[in-house]
Amino acid sequence: MNWSDFYKSLFLLGFFSIQTNAGEGVKIATWGSVEQSSTHSDWYAQKALDGVKSTCTHTDLESNAWWKLDLMKAYNVNRVTITNRNGCCSDRINGAEIRIGNNSSNVFSNPVCAVVSTIPEGATYSYPCYGMKGRYVSVDLPGPTAQHLTLCEVEVYEEEDLCEDET
Ligand SMILES: *[C@@H]1O[C@H](CO)[C@@H](O)[C@H](O)[C@H]1NC(C)=O
Ligand SMILES: *[C@@H]1O[C@H](CO)[C@@H](O)[C@H](O)[C@H]1NC(C)=O
Repeated sequence: MNWSDFYKSLFLLGFFSIQTNAGEGVKIATWGSVEQSSTHSDWYAQKALDGVKSTCTHTDLESNAWWKLDLMKAYNVNRVTITNRNGCCSDRINGAEIRIGNNSSNVFSNPVCAVVSTIPEGATYSYPCYGMKGRYVSVDLPGPTAQHLTLCEVEVYEEEDLCEDET
C-alpha cells in the first residue's frame, strides 16, 4: 500500500464510520464533504458534522442561505436530526428546509423532506424522511429575506436494509 492509498483508506474509515441505533436506522456521514453558501468568521460548514454540539456553522446575512452534505453516493434516508444553537438567536432556524436529492449545483431543486417550524435553544429535533433517496442532504433558509443559517449538528440516518443485494 502506498501513502496515497493509506490516506484514502483513512478517509473512508472516517467517512463511513457507522453507528447502529436499534430501530432508528444507521447513522451515516459522521463527517464528510460539506459546504455552505458563505462562512461567517470561523463558523465553518464542518462544524455541523464534528460530533460537537457546541460548535456551529454560520453563514453571512444573505438570502437563500444553505448548508450541504455530500454523502458520495445516494442513500435512502430514514431521518435527519438538527441541533439548534444555544445562547441566542434560536429562532433563526424557523422555516429551514431539509432537502435530499442529487443536484449538487442547485440544492433548491432537490425535494424537501421536512420544514423546521421551531427548535428550542440547544435542542436536537429529528425529522423523518421515509426513505427519500439522494446523494446530497441540505438545509436552507429559502426566500429573499437575508438571514443567517446556523447549524450546530446535523445527523443523517440511513434506512436499515438488511437484505440489500448488490446485483
Ligand atoms: C437520486 O439518484 C438515485 C440513483 O442514484 C435515485 O434512485 C434517486 O431516486 C434520486 N433521487 C432523486 C430525489 O431524484
Ligand atoms: C440542477 O439544477 C439546475 C437548476 O435548477 C439545473 O439547471 C440542472 O440541470 C440540475 N442538474 C441536475 C444534474 O439535475
